[in-house]
Amino acid sequence: EHRSNGSATAVAHPNIALIKYWGKSDEQLVLPRTDSLSMTLDIFPTTTRVRLVPEAEHDEVTLGGAPLEGEARRRVVAFLDLVRERAGSSQRAVVATENTVPTGAGLASSASGFAALAVAASAAYGLDSDPTALSRLARRGSGSASRSVFGDFAIWHAGRPGEADADLSSYAEPVTTGEFAPALVIAVVNAGPKAVSSRAAMRRTVDTSPLYEPWAASSKDDLAEMREALLKGDLDAVGEIAERNALGMHATMLAARPAVRYLSAPTLTVLDSVLQLRRDGVPAYATMDAGPNVKVLCHRKDAERVAAVVRGAVPGGSVHVAGPGPGARLLNGAA
Ligand code: PMV
Repeated sequence: EHRSNGSATAVAHPNIALIKYWGKSDEQLVLPRTDSLSMTLDIFPTTTRVRLVPEAEHDEVTLGGAPLEGEARRRVVAFLDLVRERAGSSQRAVVATENTVPTGAGLASSASGFAALAVAASAAYGLDSDPTALSRLARRGSGSASRSVFGDFAIWHAGRPGEADADLSSYAEPVTTGEFAPALVIAVVNAGPKAVSSRAAMRRTVDTSPLYEPWAASSKDDLAEMREALLKGDLDAVGEIAERNALGMHATMLAARPAVRYLSAPTLTVLDSVLQLRRDGVPAYATMDAGPNVKVLCHRKDAERVAAVVRGAVPGGSVHVAGPGPGARLLNGAA
């Protein structure tokens, strides 16, 4: 039914969660403990080309022209194995990925990476190209990638873990908003390499943090309030909910045994500057993921002012302004 010429190129953008995904209910299927909600960005796209090579014995996987090795390569090959199993194919592939995130920026590229790979590999191997199917598939590579299949705002459903249709039940879909196109000012702080992978940190948090269950429960309420705030296009409400949800997530990690701490001294300096902006009457709200970088939600008209203040707070860092961006897509004719 699905035709394929064995080669496809796709592009996808990163997303930043306003309601976080933190903790799995099923490690193998990558089912999250809670629903999450994000904004896909219009900067830092990832472009991935997948080309089937009938005679090859191994997959060839490169990032920015250099061969991927170790765990990073293993994850891509495991993902391709899943695609091959579904496609009934044993053909190996050449997978070439180009990221535009500044090197060493420490910004999550797994979301854009696995969303682009899901779209390109599905086309190359002739799998279903329905966005829901692509979102479920991208989820298996990296949970947050399920959301980057869609543009603007997306919600990823935790689904029905443990049930027969568990795999089918967890996917992202677009979220309806009112008139709402904020900016996210991304402060890349200089703070060295990440100590713990998000995968390992999530597991430790769920297994050992006494704050995990309370956060997961309150995140449910945050999500319901967030949907309302988005419908109203109420930036202050969206920002307040996003900020408390993120700080709560980091609190669960700080209470894990041993603690996982991604927030560094420069992170706190940026958080102080966000508080100062609010005191000065500029609506600005912060969110942080599995790293020290800070993403500041604000009105588009205030983005340059916010960026300047944040830049002043972290002289060694770099600051980027993003808006809502597009979903993952095939580059037709460019395969
Ligand atoms: O990128 P992943 O699937 O390992 O998950 C990371 C989760 C956070 O970025 C910390 C939060 C989120 O919802 O994106």
